[in-house]
Amino acid sequence: MSVEPLLKVNGLTKMYGARIGCADVSFDLWPGEVLAIVGESGSGKTTLLSCLSTRLEATSGSVEYHMRDGAYRELSRLTEAERRFLMRTDWGFVHQNPADGLRMTVSAGANVGERLMAIGHRRYGEIREAASDWLSRVEISPTRIDDQPRAFSGGMRQRLQIARNLITGPRLVFMDEPTGGLDVSVQARLLDLVRGLVHDLGLSAIVVTHDLAVARLLSHRMMVMKDGHVIEQGLTDRVLDDPREPYTQLLVSSILQV
Ligand SMILES: Nc1ncnc2c1ncn2[C@@H]1O[C@H](COP(=O)(O)OP(=O)(O)O)[C@@H](O)[C@H]1O
Ligand SMILES: [Mg+2]
Repeated sequence: MSVEPLLKVNGLTKMYGARIGCADVSFDLWPGEVLAIVGESGSGKTTLLSCLSTRLEATSGSVEYHMRDGAYRELSRLTEAERRFLMRTDWGFVHQNPADGLRMTVSAGANVGERLMAIGHRRYGEIREAASDWLSRVEISPTRIDDQPRAFSGGMRQRLQIARNLITGPRLVFMDEPTGGLDVSVQARLLDLVRGLVHDLGLSAIVVTHDLAVARLLSHRMMVMKDGHVIEQGLTDRVLDDPREPYTQLLVSSILQV
């Protein structure tokens, strides 16, 4: 069986009136590949991620997704029911702020189990067991299964959000600054965890970050954005060790505050 891209992106553009959100972005994402989108604040990272994940409607261009049945579908042409099904099963979305991706006033176990129920799991014992297993995998003690995320630290909340996303076995996970709000020591541990899970599960991921260290640690390939345009892309080590564009050179040498 030949390997084909999971995502084929062509000329993706989002305008906010006359202002450019992102412009003419094209790339393929391969199964098992982690792509980092980097750039300073306002460069269009979140806009691009939102368009890719159908949270925002693009102005022009196309995003084709390789469905489990082997067919490519243009995402903007999915029905609302198909789109929601993808969001609940095949895709994960990890928000920078865990409160945006969790239900803060239901238990950790329910937060994780809910996604299984959404895809048809009905047996309480099995759901609870799977939830407990996933809490362990993200280094949360299963004894906390009945606690609400309100009672968790920032790092724990973020790990819970990751468990909630991964329990359905998604093929593609979108992450927007997944370590953004965390202390440096907590960030390092979370990055290690994410890197291990992505590798073990063979996930594809698109990670938005302004932090080149995050890109270095997590991604195989990266795209550098400036003013809505991708100005350089390539293998992460190549871009970081031998940046071609003057702007990327500035980013890498940390002269630019990002
Ligand atoms: N909802 C919006 N309405 C109008 N302009 C927006 C909106 N969201 C983002 N923008 C503009 O689009 C550009 C890219 O923003 P954004 O995607 O948030 O960048 P980043 O995530 O890299 O900080 C910026 O100029 C920003 O001001
Ligand atoms: Mg952003």
